[in-house]
Amino acid sequence: MGSCNLCKYPSEDKIIEKDNTLETPVEALKEKKPKNDISEINIDYRVNTVSSGISVNNSISESIYIIPTEISKHENIKKFYEISTTILGRGGSSYIFLSKKNNSRFAVKQVLKGGVAKPEEILREANISLSLKHEHIIKFYEIFEDYYSIYFVMELGDYGDLFEFITFSEQGYLSPDITIDLLIQIFEAVDYLHNNRKIIHRDIKAENFVLCINEYNQLNIKLIDFGLAIKKPENGEILYDIIGTRKYQSPEMINGNGYDEKVDEWALGVVMFSMLTGYEPFRRTGDHKLEESILYDGINFEIIPDDDLRLLNARLLDRNVDTRITCQEALNFLKNLKLHRDPLYNDQYYLYQRNMFIDEYKRAINEKLNLYRRDTL
Ligand SMILES: Nc1ncnc2c1ncn2[C@@H]1O[C@H](COP(=O)(O)OP(=O)(O)O)[C@@H](O)[C@H]1O
Ligand SMILES: [Mg+2]
Repeated sequence: MGSCNLCKYPSEDKIIEKDNTLETPVEALKEKKPKNDISEINIDYRVNTVSSGISVNNSISESIYIIPTEISKHENIKKFYEISTTILGRGGSSYIFLSKKNNSRFAVKQVLKGGVAKPEEILREANISLSLKHEHIIKFYEIFEDYYSIYFVMELGDYGDLFEFITFSEQGYLSPDITIDLLIQIFEAVDYLHNNRKIIHRDIKAENFVLCINEYNQLNIKLIDFGLAIKKPENGEILYDIIGTRKYQSPEMINGNGYDEKVDEWALGVVMFSMLTGYEPFRRTGDHKLEESILYDGINFEIIPDDDLRLLNARLLDRNVDTRITCQEALNFLKNLKLHRDPLYNDQYYLYQRNMFIDEYKRAINEKLNLYRRDTL
């Protein structure tokens, strides 16, 4: 696992058994077809339990919610997609399975309705996910629903997430060259969200970017997980909720004085620091200590091995929201840097040649990813 200093593996066991909620029925959902909003329905069913050797047939009535048919198909997803037992990742109340339809592979995110996300939140994630269209944002194809879960069918990030990419790399951190290539794509995605779609992601972190290889054999990175994403308020309303992963939370969010989309720029600063150094910038243990560290500790920018990138990283991890660099400015900075260092940057043939080194990387990461996944398709 190289000499990586970030910690997700091996303490967390990524391999878990297939989740049997994939088998839950959908008939009751089909009878009631909510059009516009979330509805509650009662479902009745019988279960057979065996207690002390005696079989008991129980009648159970449960109340569940369903989201509008315009957004989710009330069909059994297994009729349309083969769902493998390979788990690509998991969250608080979600599992991401490798799936297949005809000869194409997909990722399916199963979100349990009884989990931490409230119905309105799942509906919001569904709406936002389906509405996004950008080269560096994972494409969401369709959504299915049964009694207990919502299933998001999306494009597969075949080469794992950015956290895995950093930790599985030879040295445990990335070179300035690869970092610049990836950051340009990352900032394009977030700039599209902020400026084109007026959406704040609010959960930017290394685990929420996945990697794939495009037709020119180039490494492509895509943003995922719109579970906390929200439209920028237009009516002067201020956002206060303290959400997301603590290590990535910005000082203004922690301070509780209200925040805007600049929380994403801060989190991108944390991602960038981890890419270049293999260390998270704030890593004191315990919530309170971590908070203090984010608010007051000096950041060890000296360990970033590149003058220009060190400067940019400090402009992202700027505690003053007003002077913190925006995505658009960061993107311009990176593109200029790239052109300056790599004058053939815009030449397609050159790019193709240069990216052949990816083949070697592909072999290495596949080997490592396979240790954590069981591919059954
Ligand atoms: N489209 C995808 N392709 C490959 N891996 C994915 C994909 N979507 C999610 N994952 C993996 O699953 C993990 C959790 O997915 P995510 O959507 O972030 O769930 P949660 O909302 O529970 O955090 C990710 O960090 C990543 O490792
Ligand atoms: Mg996530």
